[in-house]
Formats: sequence, C-alpha cells, structure tokens
Amino acid sequence: MRFKVALLKGDGIGPEIVDSAVAVLKKVADKFGHEFVFTPYLIGGCAIDEMGVPLPPETIEGCLESDSILLGSVGGPKWDDQPGDNRPEKALLGIREALGLFTNLRPAKLYPALREASPLKDDVIGSGFDIMIVRELTGGIYFGDRGYREGKYGKEAYDTEAYSVTEIERIGRVAFETAMKRRKRLCSIDKANVLESSRLWRKTMHELALKYPNVKYTDMIVDNAAMQLIRDPQQFDVIVTSNMFGDILSDEASQLTGSIGMLASASLGASKRGMFEPIHGSAPDIAGKNQANPIAAILSGAMMLRYSAGLSEEADAIEAAVEKALAKGCRTADIRGSSRETPLTCTQMTQAILEVL
Ligand code: NAD
Ligand code: IPM
Ligand code: MN
Repeated sequence: MRFKVALLKGDGIGPEIVDSAVAVLKKVADKFGHEFVFTPYLIGGCAIDEMGVPLPPETIEGCLESDSILLGSVGGPKWDDQPGDNRPEKALLGIREALGLFTNLRPAKLYPALREASPLKDDVIGSGFDIMIVRELTGGIYFGDRGYREGKYGKEAYDTEAYSVTEIERIGRVAFETAMKRRKRLCSIDKANVLESSRLWRKTMHELALKYPNVKYTDMIVDNAAMQLIRDPQQFDVIVTSNMFGDILSDEASQLTGSIGMLASASLGASKRGMFEPIHGSAPDIAGKNQANPIAAILSGAMMLRYSAGLSEEADAIEAAVEKALAKGCRTADIRGSSRETPLTCTQMTQAILEVL
C-alpha cells in the first residue's frame, strides 16, 4: 500500500530518533512491498527559529494531507523564555487539538529481556506486567482557562481543570473497548475525593460501565495509583485517566519498564489519521550526542502501522525485532543497568534492530 507520513522531527533528540524510526519503516516497506512516503514539517523550537511560531499553518495543512504523523519531540532550554502561547510545547497541544486526537494510548510493558533493568524487585515483578494507559489528550487543565488575576495575596496565575460529560464518555468508550480486547480489566484514575471535575469523571465512567458488564471496572484515587504502580503493577490491565494524570503516571510507568526511552504512544481521534509519538521529551542533556534510545520512536512507528495503516503483521515484525535486539543484550545508555556494559549509540541500536528485522 501507499501511505503518506508527515514527519515532525522537532527539537533535541527528535531528529535522531525519527531518523531511526524512518529507517525501520523503510525496511518494512521493502520487505512487505509497500510504499511509505515521508514529508518533513517544522514544529516546536525549530519552527520558532525559522518561522517565528511553533506551529506554522503549513505544518497543520501537511498533517491534514497525510495519512498519519510521526513526531519526535519538542522543546528545550533555548525556548524556555518564550511567552506561554509561543512555546514549543504549545505546538504539540495545538496539533493534537487541530487533528482532534483526544485519545493517547501509552503501552507500558516489561520486555522479559529487561527484567533486570526494571527498578522493581523480582518478587514485585512476578510474571511481568503489561499495562495500557489510556490518557485523555485534548481536555483538562492543559487546555482549560488560564491567566493572571488579582488574588488574595496579590497577583496570581491560574489554570483550570474542566471536563464535560461528552469528553469523558468518548475517552471512556475507547478505554472500555480497549479493555474488551485485552484482559477485560479497567481502572479509572481520578481525584474524586477533592475535585468536582473528577466526581463528574467518576459518575460518567460508572454509567458507562453498566454498558460493559464483561469488563471488571474499578476506580482509584491518583495518589494511591502512583503508589500501586510501584507496589504491584500486575494488578493493572487498562488504565483510563485525565490528560495531566496520564502524563505523569505514564512517565512513572515507563521507568518500571527499564527506561522512558522505551515507551511509544498513539494519539488517535475519530478518523484513521493519528499521530505517533514517544512519550519522552527532547532530552536536551543528550541531544546531538547520538546517545538517545530510538526504541520509543521505532515502536511508535509500529503503532502507526497497527492503528492507522491497518498493517498488523508489519507492526508485529517491528515489535519482534525490538524484542530480539533486546534479547541479544543490545542496550542504550539510558536503560537501567546498561552502564555495566558498553552501551550502544542511537545509530548502533537502530542498526541492531534493522539486522534482526
Ligand atoms: P525528557 O523526557 O526530555 O528527559 C528526561 C530524562 O530522560 C533526561 O535525562 C533524558 O536524557 C532522558 N531521556 C528521555 N528520552 C530519552 C531517550 N529516548 N533516550 C535516552 N534518554 C532519554 O523530559 P524533560 O527533561 O522534562 O524535558 C525536556 C524538554 O522536552 C522540555 O522542553 C519539555 O517540555 C519537552 N518535552 C517534550 C515532549 C514531547 O515532545 N512529546 C514530552 C516531554 C517533554
Ligand atoms: C507528553 C509531553 C507533553 C504533554 C508536553 C510537552 C506538552 O509531556 O507528550 O507527555 O504534556 O502531553
Ligand atoms: Mn509527558
């Protein structure tokens, strides 16, 4: 098949890891007889440098003309003094909103080869864990009303968490459907003991749960959830949560798998067009040093084939190649415990994955 991909490499390690994902996708295209067409567009700090804005209209148009989008990462200290509305991160929120990508699937699974790399003790890991975090992506406090005002103690800044029934229902449905295709357990994470928006979230999820009697549904308060993830990750199958809680809990979960450099994600909406993005950032501390772990980006490419192109066999092949390379002992520096060996560079890890693909 012919499949058009918009490449948003972005800043920091973004270009390095997207190049790795593209190399893997090109090999898959050759192997399986497809034509993937890649077109780069600017986003984030590099777009500010070239065009003055982090999300140029050409980028949105390019994404809308593509079958899907592969994103690296945006941001870095160079642009930290930009006004809030012109920050690189604002472009990421903007493109998700412009494309209606309200669902973010973040799979956190422990590869058997990385058991030693997890900071968890052997008895806590047990037979391993495989969690799908369903993060709401276009609502909540990252999109709510914000600004400055006069408060009790003088000038103050505020941000607002707001969720509508419509937004909760649509992400809830995705989560229940996802659970139906997996181990049929769904845990909704909120802060209903304090937040009104969480109480509406919980009530709406409970009503939805009645329509999915085959899913074992539970609620959990977010502070407890942060602790339970480390105490016993195996208790989770699918997690559904708000934009901010999902952002935080997925970084926590990533480290349980050995490194944040392992976690891919799929940002999806109503159509087949999605944006596929590692959960990590631009890693300014290692940018340009060829030290980044390309696996999150490569697995994001696999998610693109699975969720957007409908090429599950090809996605399986990429995931199997990553697993094989890890089983052979290939490690980048970020993977916990890898300092004992000589870690691979980003290009060496990519090469190792290409070899077994
Ligand atoms: P970060 O995820 O960029 O980095 C956190 C730590 O993890 C760093 O030590 C980094 O070196 C390491 N790390 C992350 N990804 C790695 C990889 N693939 N391989 C090896 N090591 C990796 O988070 P941060 O430092 O808080 O943010 C840096 C910048 O990235 C900020 O401007 C932030 O806003 C932005 N950011 C962007 C995205 C995105 O584009 N999706 C996500 C998160 C943060
Ligand atoms: C992520 C990032 C982004 C988010 C930021 C950079 C806007 O942290 O993709 O996890 O909060 O969604
Ligand atoms: Mn994040």
